[in-house]
Amino acid sequence: MSDRGSPAGPGRVRALPRVRGHDAVKAAGRDWERYASGHQGDEDVRSYRQLPLECDPPEHTALRGLLVPSFSRHTIEPLRAVVAADAAALVAPLGAGRPVELVEEVALPFVVRTICRILDLEEDAGRLTDFGLSVWGDHLGRRDGTAFHAYLDELTDRADRGEAGRVMDALAVAAPGGRPLGREERIGIASLLLAAGRDTVIGLVAGIGWALAARPDLLPALHAAGPWTADGTGAAIDARDRFIEEVLRLTSDLVMERIDRGPERLDLTVAPHVALDFPSANHDADAFPSPAEIRLDRPNPRGHLAFGIGAHACLGALPARIEGRAALDALLAAAPSGLVLDPAAGADALIAGTHHVDGVAIPTGFRRVVVRGA
Ligand code: HEM
Repeated sequence: MSDRGSPAGPGRVRALPRVRGHDAVKAAGRDWERYASGHQGDEDVRSYRQLPLECDPPEHTALRGLLVPSFSRHTIEPLRAVVAADAAALVAPLGAGRPVELVEEVALPFVVRTICRILDLEEDAGRLTDFGLSVWGDHLGRRDGTAFHAYLDELTDRADRGEAGRVMDALAVAAPGGRPLGREERIGIASLLLAAGRDTVIGLVAGIGWALAARPDLLPALHAAGPWTADGTGAAIDARDRFIEEVLRLTSDLVMERIDRGPERLDLTVAPHVALDFPSANHDADAFPSPAEIRLDRPNPRGHLAFGIGAHACLGALPARIEGRAALDALLAAAPSGLVLDPAAGADALIAGTHHVDGVAIPTGFRRVVVRGA
């Protein structure tokens, strides 16, 4: 997956005709036979497909099946305590009355550490953090996949020797349907797993900070819910979970490419390309009345499509929610009276893009969010 940017990469996707609105996007996302994913994106920075994102069943079913165990509740839930400790350590300066910068200083190392924990690649966390906010950027912020590709190449060699952590090592010997995975397929899977939960979760963490600063009136409900606890009381969706779902609904901004094969099932090589506009679904007033508002009492708190829908629905939704909850709990503990945005950072520095929802400007794609305790 990709971040916003150049006309050859995600800029091209953003210029495609769009499927818009909650019902239409939901139906299209479920209809993979018409809206196919079998194409390679980010052509300015890579020459392989990110898998299983950029393929269709039955190939998709086999490849996704290999990854499901690594993202199951059984595998991911035990990470909660350590992810919560990571978040608490990163926002600790707030508790001492100092400001913190949420995008690069908190969210980036936080999400890289979590991905590395899931993939059993902790020793690579420093290198993966050094890529910066996007794995596709060079040190000047231009799109460039060279350094990331070199890392993926090396990782794949290590996996051949059984030295690239549980998940990549298992892919090196996997043979779905009796066929071992090719090197390019393994690179495509590693690329997706390392990139997909990066700028997306960074946006979620920064969005949580922005929303806390914007809505101090919600603090009593958030404090009443209390932090996540391991004793099972965290099983039902509470006000903090609802807050996170609303931040996802409002600020996530992925639009994803599809090939519209139409009812006549045109060949992939000739069918037109379109984009599923997930934000338009999430801001649809028919599905979410007063869509620009963060509401903790929506009857459909998880009815948004921030994580997609259908065959390609986000495999990392559970870790993303756990990271969001850890970040929110840590921020509320360190700054119980709420957050204020540091005006010195400036509005332009804060926001990389804007959604206009119901006439209200909602930031999306945060650059630099400096906050301190209220
Ligand atoms: C707030 C955080 C996140 C958001 C908003 C998000 C959003 C999405 C969306 C919209 C899709 C569907 C793409 C499509 O239909 O073409 C998707 C797919 C995917 N996501 Fe996420 N994601 C997030 C976090 C993560 C994390 C933490 C990981 C794992 C490390 C992850 C891994 C994936 C993978 C592997 C797919 C492809 C699934 C498939 O094609 O079967 N995501 N994500």
